Amino acid sequence: MAELIAEEKIDQIRQAVDIVEVIGDYVQLKKQGRNYFGLCPFHGENTPSFSVSPDKQIFHCFGCGAGGNIFSFLMELEGISFHEAAVRLADKANIELQLNHTELNKEKGISSELQAIYDAHELLCKFYHHLLVNTKDGQHALEYLLSRGFTRESIDKFQIGYSLHSWDFIYKFLAKRDFKAEWMEKAGLIIRSERDGSYFDRFRDRIMFPIFDRNGKTVAFSGRTLGSEEPKYLNSPETVIFNKSKILYNFHLARPHIRRTHQAVLFEGFADVISSDRAGVKNGIATMGTSLTESHISLIRQNVESVTICYDSDKAGIEAAFRAGKLLTDAGSAIKVALMPDGLDPDEYIKKYGDDKFQTEVIGASLTWMSFKFLYYRRGKNLQNEGDQLEYIEQILKEISALTKAVERDHYLRQLASEFSLSIDALKEQQRHIFFSEKRKSQSENKAGKVPIVIPKQVSELKPAYYTAERRLIRHMLKNRDIAYRVQELLQGNTFNTDEHQAIITYLFGFYENHFHSDSSAFLNYIQDDKLRRIVANIEMMAINEELSDQELMDYLKQVLNYQKWLKIKEKEAEEKEAERKQDYRKAATIAMEIIQLRKSL
Ligand code: UTP
Ligand code: MN
Repeated sequence: MAELIAEEKIDQIRQAVDIVEVIGDYVQLKKQGRNYFGLCPFHGENTPSFSVSPDKQIFHCFGCGAGGNIFSFLMELEGISFHEAAVRLADKANIELQLNHTELNKEKGISSELQAIYDAHELLCKFYHHLLVNTKDGQHALEYLLSRGFTRESIDKFQIGYSLHSWDFIYKFLAKRDFKAEWMEKAGLIIRSERDGSYFDRFRDRIMFPIFDRNGKTVAFSGRTLGSEEPKYLNSPETVIFNKSKILYNFHLARPHIRRTHQAVLFEGFADVISSDRAGVKNGIATMGTSLTESHISLIRQNVESVTICYDSDKAGIEAAFRAGKLLTDAGSAIKVALMPDGLDPDEYIKKYGDDKFQTEVIGASLTWMSFKFLYYRRGKNLQNEGDQLEYIEQILKEISALTKAVERDHYLRQLASEFSLSIDALKEQQRHIFFSEKRKSQSENKAGKVPIVIPKQVSELKPAYYTAERRLIRHMLKNRDIAYRVQELLQGNTFNTDEHQAIITYLFGFYENHFHSDSSAFLNYIQDDKLRRIVANIEMMAINEELSDQELMDYLKQVLNYQKWLKIKEKEAEEKEAERKQDYRKAATIAMEIIQLRKSL
């Protein structure tokens, strides 16, 4: 495995890229002391337990145990091989690698089928785009787009295309280029007829919107009809490379803007993303016609804390915004909601009122989540009517009860009091009443078997003393080569009691043969085993005394070695019993002496 890229190159890459910068592309990191903290991208969490050490160039999650260096981070997060990770990092650092691509694909373990599916999407993306912008066949489609306000610039940027009015043009086009029909059917690009087994194109006479994954690779298409056919948008089916519940449209292009502005704008459809992009809102993303899933939320949470929801301002859109906002606030996001007048969607609004107004009066004038909820509960109510008014006040008080900050509760209570000319004391009284009855309700729900969500904490089983001692020793051995050799000498051929710990120090001595200084990140590359790598990252993050005194060192060693003696004693005691059972009292007495000796040495 190491032959493909020379070890010096790997070292060069490792030294050229900064782990904080690379991980910072995926996770929002905040500095705290020497390390950075953020929400772990490997498991869902609301409070940060993921840490990155710039000194050691490693990361570790105290919640799920993930850990490693910059290579393993990319490997795990993107599901790529060591080599692919190295190639990407080299690219980032402008380091030239001479690579053999077939070898690399083999190494990546990418099957030819998967590769063909990716290639076909890439090819068709270009081909559809070409048909739209350069050919007579696509002219009416191009005119449709331009009349809708799409510009040539955004047509190119989003690689919008056109699929011909033909039954099997794409099937033949792909077949001619040796793409296997069976694979292309799996890719969702062609359909096999049940009747005679012949193949035909999925997308015919439609405006083609390529859907890109996080890395900007085309993984699916959505085709909009030019007329009034159903469905309006025809999407690729779920395939090996396309999972609707995980994809956010425009994520790869929006990400840098999201990270810079600390804000994402969530739209209902990709037509809105494209218009808004043209209007200068570059941090827009959209789901693919599905509601927001857990995967979407976790992808958003990894990148940004604050989200502006900008859905259609019709009944369905407002309901959907309410649901999405609730899910996101529950996950810990800060939500704003941008509204447009009378049932418009963002695309229509921009066309009607222009880019500037959209930026300032829609996005710029977004409501806080609480103000949106005030508005939401008003819908369909006549507040002059006493019954509606009481229901509304009750709903708002419930929302206020869920706020954890007293100042905020006070603020909204006052707002409510002044709006309906009510006494603030009476409102407070009722709000308190609601708070306690909601609390009782949730307690009895819990009793009835509804388990509350618990943030995963590090498993804190009680570990035996030798276990902790071994970890502390390893921590010092990782830090200082001399200490490592000293421990080796003092162990006098004995091993650590925990198999994983022993494996780590075995690796460590191998590493120190060619490396004369400690280097956490380089050592993680040297270890071939995933599980061990995680343990090392965990150990690296342990707090220890900077200087290891002789006293401390001997204490740890004693704990490691005593455990072995103690095991020996247990063994001898069993032998002694056995001898007594056989009435071999002489042997039993000898063993008893040995046990006494062993106990003395503890
Ligand atoms: P909309 O019906 O709001 O479409 O659906 P739109 O974004 O305003 O598009 P235009 O302006 O009519 O061209 C919102 C999203 O729902 C999904 C698409 O992702 C669309 O962007 N959708 C809609 C489908 O997947 N299939 C459909 O038939 C309709
Ligand atoms: Mn629209």
